[in-house]
Amino acid sequence: MTRDNSLQVDKDGNLRHFLCIRGLTSNLLTDILDAAESFAGVTEQTVKKVPLLRGKTIVNLFFEASTRTRTTFELAAKRLSADVLNISVAVSSTVKGESLMDTLSNLEAMHVDMFVVRHAESGSAHFIARNVAPHISVINAGDGRHAHPTQAMLDMFTIRRTKGKDFGRLRVAIVGDILHSRVARSQIHALNLLNTGEVRIVAPKTLIPAHAETLGVHIFHDLEEGIRDADVIMMLRLQNERMEGALLPSEQEYFQLFGLTEDKLTSAKPDVTVMHPGPINRGVEMDSIVADGPRSVILQQVSHGIAVRMAVMSMAMRRVGMGGERN
Ligand code: NCD
Repeated sequence: MTRDNSLQVDKDGNLRHFLCIRGLTSNLLTDILDAAESFAGVTEQTVKKVPLLRGKTIVNLFFEASTRTRTTFELAAKRLSADVLNISVAVSSTVKGESLMDTLSNLEAMHVDMFVVRHAESGSAHFIARNVAPHISVINAGDGRHAHPTQAMLDMFTIRRTKGKDFGRLRVAIVGDILHSRVARSQIHALNLLNTGEVRIVAPKTLIPAHAETLGVHIFHDLEEGIRDADVIMMLRLQNERMEGALLPSEQEYFQLFGLTEDKLTSAKPDVTVMHPGPINRGVEMDSIVADGPRSVILQQVSHGIAVRMAVMSMAMRRVGMGGERN
């Protein structure tokens, strides 16, 4: 997508929109992770609210199905004391033929401060960011196969909390449907920005994107080799809804070759951490015993999603909150 970084970050380096990891600095990523650390404290208190976004209106605009991402964005906004509106495509007037820009203009007329957008079209979050009123922040909650930056950041936060801050020591393997995964693309950029020791992608040839070697990763087509001595394994869902034509023989055969089982896990480090962004296809990309086992941090990823989204939202709104007018 665009490399025009002025869209995401202002001339003083402050976050303005959060659209993709590519083009951001490692300092900014670290700031987000540090802020998330302090918000994780808030979400663990009995009174889980801070007044940082009081008086602000945030719209969750979801043109694609979601449970985890939408609800954790909603909780994050509420814990920052913002007012939240959830709009999903099934009840919106886009089904009546209204254009995206008309939907946005109507919401802008309601004095909205932030859009959290999920859309099936790659590039849609950038498009919206370029076209909204200057005081509005746009957060990408997943656009097509392109990017899912808050998911990548909550994954980085989970790695940091489990393995410590030195990513240079870590070997991380991303396993599964890389081709269709906006999560994988954002994870790879984030891991590289944080100077991860080694980033591997592990998948059948049909699920590796063209020119993957230019992403700064090592490519493997064998699961046990790909996860050998890994510190972290990030599993991905088979995105059947995005597959055109037969890219795989069958789910059973995929599980035979690429499904993560206790047995296969023995080739990774003994203290390996297993992650998955959800939703999991149990028995397809991983065995339930692994998903629910002691090395899995899958539910912690969900909890961390709230703290990380609080961090991103509050950082993107900071300039407005301080009275600064955006250009
Ligand atoms: C991911 C997504 O929607 O891109 N899920 C999520 O955000 N929790 C991954 C997926 O759908 O497989």
